[in-house]
Amino acid sequence: MARETWGSRVGFVAAAVGSAVGLGNIWMFPWRAGTLGGAAFLIPYLILLFAIGVIALTVEWTLGRSTKGGPIVAFQKAGLPGGKYLGLLVNIVMVMIFAFYSLVLGWILRYFIAALTGELLKTHPGAFFEGLAFSKEAMIWQFVVIMLTVAIVALGVQKGIEKANKIMMPALFALLIILAVRSVTLPNAYEGLKFYLLPDISKALAPKTWMIALSQMFFSLSVLGNTMVVYGSYLKEKDDIPLSAVATAFGDTAVAVTAGFLIFPAVFAFGLEPGAGPGLVFVTLPMVFQKMSGGTFFATLFFLLLLFAGLSSTVSMLEVYVDSAITKLNMDRKKAAILLGLLTFIIGAPSALSPYYFESILINISTVYIGPLGALIAALALIKFGIEKAYEEVKKGALFEVPTFWKPWVKYVYPAVIVLIYLYTIYGMLGG
Ligand code: PFF
Repeated sequence: MARETWGSRVGFVAAAVGSAVGLGNIWMFPWRAGTLGGAAFLIPYLILLFAIGVIALTVEWTLGRSTKGGPIVAFQKAGLPGGKYLGLLVNIVMVMIFAFYSLVLGWILRYFIAALTGELLKTHPGAFFEGLAFSKEAMIWQFVVIMLTVAIVALGVQKGIEKANKIMMPALFALLIILAVRSVTLPNAYEGLKFYLLPDISKALAPKTWMIALSQMFFSLSVLGNTMVVYGSYLKEKDDIPLSAVATAFGDTAVAVTAGFLIFPAVFAFGLEPGAGPGLVFVTLPMVFQKMSGGTFFATLFFLLLLFAGLSSTVSMLEVYVDSAITKLNMDRKKAAILLGLLTFIIGAPSALSPYYFESILINISTVYIGPLGALIAALALIKFGIEKAYEEVKKGALFEVPTFWKPWVKYVYPAVIVLIYLYTIYGMLGG
């Protein structure tokens, strides 16, 4: 059977932005920016986005398009030694990411329902979160989220993934803007804007800020050698890789930055703490909604926004290993989506009961210890494929000239940067 392709360029960019924009933008970015000095975090992030992020997307899409395959096929065809096993490894990482991500998205689904029914505005947010986060109930919501993802992936690239994203992405942008406007026009919003926009230069120059900005960016752009390789494999020769990379990087960052405009002014307007970290969205924001007029309405919109952002990302996760099962095991798409969805649930469900399994096993192994290696493996595969051939490939369909420095940048700078972040993070994790 012929490999599926995207129906249109807009559809592809919507799907790529859909994958990139997720909990990483609305949940993690403001918390990182909040703890690392607001604007001081933004400056390195934006510099690195253009120096590394855009290139990273072109690398993974070029690899996917030229080999017409997801990671296993791509690494093998590129001639990377052990390509099959390395491909398998990034597939396993993807299962682990979806396994923990689905728990968090399950909480969001529960919050959305609580917001819609008005329940959220009457509860004590801290107690509500404590009662939900690691519980049998959370496992049920996790299951629902996985099955929603299965339903979209089962419909295929054009009718499922592309169509869902073409609906969810514009809705997401609209919701984001409504909420950000509401937030910045609250009385006292000014304090939050000051916090978010005035940089503390010493923090902006600290190596730690740059390293965290880099690993945040990789996760946020979904460049871990899996999702973007698969999405690239559905591209046609006439599709414009560099321009789509710029559009995706821009869209992803615009959402992350706007999420900060949504969160900080509101948090400051009601005298709450901006540095709450992971609890910012689940505990602090519901307190904001409780104090705000029209709180039920805005809370419902906010959790709907998060739900769209998260689902368009989980779809891109499941697609990675569904595609592997279709091409490598000759499985039918629907069957693969259901079976692999169930497998993800089996692996993810214990995280609903054990914070240790959730964080120390699933999150740390998949995003810290092995995840970044996926990006490195994809880069090495493209180098093995041949940088000249890759350069010819990236230029196909491109509206603007791709500068020749793309070649040394991809061959030397990009892999070196990944190794650097990797060593730094591991060093930090080991208590260095
Ligand atoms: N980019 C997504 C986010 O920011 O939430 C998460 C993600 C999706 C990471 C797909 C990795 C991936 F392959």
